[in-house]
Order: sequence, then C-alpha cells, then structure tokens
Amino acid sequence: MPEKLYIGMAGFGTVGRGVYTVLKRNAEIIERRSGHALEIKTIVCRDIKKAHDFANEANIVNDLNAIIDDPEISIAVEVMGGIKPAKSFILNAIRNGKDVVTANKALLATHGDEIFREAQKHNRRVYFEASVAGGIPIIKALREGLAANQIFEITGILNGTCNYILSSMHQSPVSFEDALKEAQKLGYAEADPTFDIEGLDTGHKLTILSALAFGTPYQFDSSRVCGITSVSSTDVKYAQKFGFVIKLLAIARKNKDNISFSVSPTLVPENTFLAHVNAAMNAVEIKSDALGTSFYYGAGAGGEPTASAVLADLVDLARGNQVSMPLSEANSVALMPIDAVNDKNYIRLHAPLINEKAGLVEQIFKQFDIRIDKEMSEENNLVFITHECSENRFSSALDRIRRSFGETIAIHVMKIKK
Ligand code: HSE
Repeated sequence: MPEKLYIGMAGFGTVGRGVYTVLKRNAEIIERRSGHALEIKTIVCRDIKKAHDFANEANIVNDLNAIIDDPEISIAVEVMGGIKPAKSFILNAIRNGKDVVTANKALLATHGDEIFREAQKHNRRVYFEASVAGGIPIIKALREGLAANQIFEITGILNGTCNYILSSMHQSPVSFEDALKEAQKLGYAEADPTFDIEGLDTGHKLTILSALAFGTPYQFDSSRVCGITSVSSTDVKYAQKFGFVIKLLAIARKNKDNISFSVSPTLVPENTFLAHVNAAMNAVEIKSDALGTSFYYGAGAGGEPTASAVLADLVDLARGNQVSMPLSEANSVALMPIDAVNDKNYIRLHAPLINEKAGLVEQIFKQFDIRIDKEMSEENNLVFITHECSENRFSSALDRIRRSFGETIAIHVMKIKK
C-alpha cells in the first residue's frame, strides 16, 4: 500500500473550501494519478464552528502550530493570504521539514526570494501554481513547457475581479460599484478589494511571472501599477467607438538591456483574443523564441478553479517531482525607466466648450512631435488616439495642456496595446 500523505491546510475561505471539496470529490482519481492517498488532516482557521459545518471529519483548530509541529503532516498548504502570519507559517513549516503549497501572490511577490532560499537550504519544495491566474497552469507552462525558450514578452489579464467589472461595463451601463459588489458576491475579490481594483493583485502576479521568465527579483514595485478605478462608462463608450475593449493588462517585456513592467487599464483592439476574455476569466499571452506566440486561457478566480491549481501542486509533490527553487538572478536585469517607454495613447479631454479648442490641442501635440492617429469631438469631449510616442514627450504634452486649460479640464489617459 503506498503511503498516505497527510496535509495541513491554513485558511478555510473560498479557496480552502474549494480544495477540500474537490479533493473529496476526486479522491480516487487523485490517488491513482499521484500514487498516494491525500488526506487533509488538520485545518487551521478563525471560525471553527462554521468550518465544522462544512468539513465535519477534519481536525479543525485555530493554532498554526498544530500543522507546523505535527510530524505526520508532510505538506503545509497556505491559503490564508496576506503577509502575517502566512510568511512565518511557511518559513516554520519549511524549517520543520514540510513541503509547502501556497496561493499567496502578495507574499511571493514581496518575500519570494527569502522563502525560496529557505526552501533550498532545507531541501524542501514550495509550489505556487495557484498564485497566478487561478486554475490556468501558467507557472507550469513557464517552468516546464517553455523551459527551453527565451521569453520575450508576457501579456496577461490576471485579475478576475477587474475583468468581471470591465466586462460588465462593456456589456451594459452597470456602475463600477455594482459590478464590484457582484464580483465580491461571486467570491472573486480579495478580502480587501482595493488590492484588485488598484492593480496591486495584478502587479503581484506579474512580479511572479516576470521572476520566472526573466529572473527579475521578487520585489513588487507599486509605483508601476495603475488600477481601474478611474475608468468611466464614457471611456468605455469611446473605446468601443474606436474599435477597442478596455482591459487591465499586465505586461512584462524584455528589451535590449532591460525589462519593462507595467499594469494599467489598456485599450485592446477588438479583433484580438485578449479583447474576448470576459467575466472573471484570465488569459496570458507569451511570446518566446522557439514556440512563438502561445495563449493560455481559463478561470482566474473562484474556489474550485483555484483549488484545481493547489491540488495539481499536491499531486506533483506526491509524485516526488523535483523542480529547483525559482530564485531570482538578483540585479542581473534592470527595469526599464518609465520615461523610456514608447506607447500609443488614448486621451480624452473633458471641459465645457472644449470642442471649440481642438486646434489648440492639436498644436500642442505637434510641438511635442506627437502624431494623432484618430480624433473624435462631441458633447464637451475631445478624444484622441495618438501614434506611438515616448512617455516622456507624452507627459510633457499633458502638462502643457493642463497649463493651457487650467482647472476646468479633466484629462483621462490610457495606453493602447501594441
Ligand atoms: N482577487 C483575485 C482575482 C483572486 O480577482 O483575480 C484570484 O487571485
């Protein structure tokens, strides 16, 4: 009889319950495929009574040491989220000889190097498929399927909540707040949805993908992310009129001697795959030398899709698969200075009688050598799509517009996908 593997799971929210449910439902398949029966021996969570109603046969407690100090438990699953106490739980589990499976993107994006180094030191494995893009096996794709490729560019829709909100705003005139409430009700959003809508969650996920693809440090930099809170239904309307769909895009690109990294609401041409990734679905497009362009699509949030990734990691561990810890090649890759980035831009100027001032705005763009591709003027809105230009020149032109028109003007800007 193959040895049974005992698991301790910290966290019993949407994802933890998903793991419990899918493991129970598919126990036989999982045993056959992994060669071991897997049993969740201990669950650690805050609301013990509520957890008991859901999982009556597990040992449910509220002390993380019940997992860390149990020699029978060989794998610690961390699905609590947040930094404290998740980080010390994982480090102590590693030090006590346990392998770890975590879905914690915020933790890995900020302390990944420390955690992977500790795992390497103790000859333990830390798996994290569920940390990026929910159930899509994108970590496996990068580490295994594309292992022989040079990666040039990763473009992702990595946050189910934001994609749900933006898709709803494109489909009908629903407000941002109502769409967010619905996403929370469906269990997609973080405990604090600010992480979703301000782009931080997407930034955490891109940091992990970029570390795997380019060796950049697990060092999330919030100055490089912009969320979707300023996207209005008016911008959605103009994007549609110009043939675009607004998506929160995460892009990491290898340039000649640096990596550019950005998260921002972006206009995506309507006739591309990315534009058709709707609701809470996620997608990742990877450009690499041998394979060319590959596309990965699936559910990016929610209990069972995320559980699918956690359980895939558990199966990997049970099979004894070994992958080396994904340490970053610290300082080997410089991030591209933001002002060296070149993009096409969408810009909407909103002010009373702005439509009569189109000539002045065109003149300002010309002074900064910014060419206009398309233009629309209606209802106190002047909307432009520019040709590609440097971020430097573009922000100087915006400053000049602001100074010329004063307080009365509202300026809405978004990037356009190359
Ligand atoms: N809040 C995240 C999202 C959950 O909406 O994508 C999955 O990481």
